Amino acid sequence: MFDATLIPTDPTMHAVLHTRYGDASRLAAATSPRPTPRRGEVRVRVHASSINYGDHVMMTGRPWLARLALGLFRPRQPVLGMDVAGVVDAVGPGVEDLAVGDAVFGVGCGAFAQYACARASQLARLPAGVDFEQAAAAPIAGATALQALRDRARVGPGSKVLIIGASGGVGTFAVQIGRALGATVTAVCSTRNVDQARALGAAEVVDYTRADYTCLATRFDAIVDLAGSAPLRACLRLLAPGGTFVSSVGRLGRTLRAALAALRAPRRVAVLAARSDRASFEALGALLATGDVAPAIERTCTLDEVPAALARQGEGHARGKTVVRVA
Ligand SMILES: NC(=O)c1ccc[n+]([C@@H]2O[C@H](COP(=O)([O-])OP(=O)(O)OC[C@H]3O[C@@H](n4cnc5c(N)ncnc54)[C@H](OP(=O)(O)O)[C@@H]3O)[C@@H](O)[C@H]2O)c1
Repeated sequence: MFDATLIPTDPTMHAVLHTRYGDASRLAAATSPRPTPRRGEVRVRVHASSINYGDHVMMTGRPWLARLALGLFRPRQPVLGMDVAGVVDAVGPGVEDLAVGDAVFGVGCGAFAQYACARASQLARLPAGVDFEQAAAAPIAGATALQALRDRARVGPGSKVLIIGASGGVGTFAVQIGRALGATVTAVCSTRNVDQARALGAAEVVDYTRADYTCLATRFDAIVDLAGSAPLRACLRLLAPGGTFVSSVGRLGRTLRAALAALRAPRRVAVLAARSDRASFEALGALLATGDVAPAIERTCTLDEVPAALARQGEGHARGKTVVRVA
C-alpha cells in the first residue's frame, strides 16, 4: 500500500549531474533534489552502483540515434547510472511486493546518486551472503551475458562457446556463466587479460593481438560478440550445425548487418537487446550466492570519481567492472 508518510522529507542528495551531452568534463557531482517514486516504483538508498558502456552512451548522446530515447537536444534524465544495489527507503503507489527496509539490486534510473528510483519489477532481493558492491556489478552486464548464452544461444552442458570481448564488463560475466551452464568456453581478449580469462574459467584463450580466432579449428555452438569487431561471415563459418551467433554490440552498421542476417536465419543469428527484469536478476543472484559467478571488480570509485571512470570506460578497454561505492 502507498503510504506518503514513508517518504522522508529531507529533499536533497549528492549526485552526478548530467545536463548536456558531451565528454566527462560536462559531468558534475553536486547537490540535487531527491527523486520521488512514481506508480510501480520504489526509491532506493543507493549503497553501490557500477559503470556500464551504456552510461557512456547516455553521457555522450552517441550514437545519435540513441537520442530518440534519451532526449533529442539534452538528456531527459539529469542523473546518470543504471545498476543499483541498496535499501528501499520509500515505496510508490501500486507496489505490493517490496517494502521499506528491503535490500535489493537491479536497474534504476539515476543511480550515480545517494537515492534513485527504480521500477519494482526491475529489482530483486539481495541474496544472503552477497554484498552491495558485488550485487551492483551484476545487473546489466550479468543479465546481458545470461540472456545471450542461456536464452538466445540455448547454451547447456557440453556446449562449446566463443566469447569475443571476454575481458570487459559483460565478457567477464559471460565466461563464468558459460562455464556455470556446463559449456566449454574459449575467450578472446588482449594480452594483458589472458590470465584473467583463464582464472574466470575459460578452457582456451585467444589473444587477439597475436592470433586470429576466425582460424580456429573448433566449431562453436554459441559465439557471443561483445567487441563489435567480429567479422560476421567468418564467425558464421565457425558455428557448429545448429549454433547461434549473438551480437550484443550497439554500433549501428554492425547491428543492422546482424539484424538482416537474423531475419534470414533467426536460429543462427540473434541481435540481443537485454531485458532488465526481476527474473534475470534473481537468476544472477542465485549464481552470485552459490559462488558460481563472482563479479570481476577491477576497481571501486566514489561518486566524485565517476566522471573519470566514465572517461576510462569510453576508451573501450575496460577490464571487468568498476563499482561506484556510494554509502
Ligand atoms: N545488447 C544489450 O542489451 C547490451 C547490454 C550491455 C552491453 N552491450 C554492449 O556489449 C558490448 C560490451 O559491453 P561491455 O560492458 O562488456 O563493454 P566494456 O566493459 O567496455 O568491454 C569491452 C571489452 O572489449 C574488449 N575488446 C576491444 N576490442 C576488442 C577486440 N578487437 N577483440 C576482442 N575484445 C576486444 C576490451 O578488452 P581489451 O582491453 O582486451 O581489448 C574490453 O574489455 C558494448 O558494445 C555494449 O554496448 C549490449
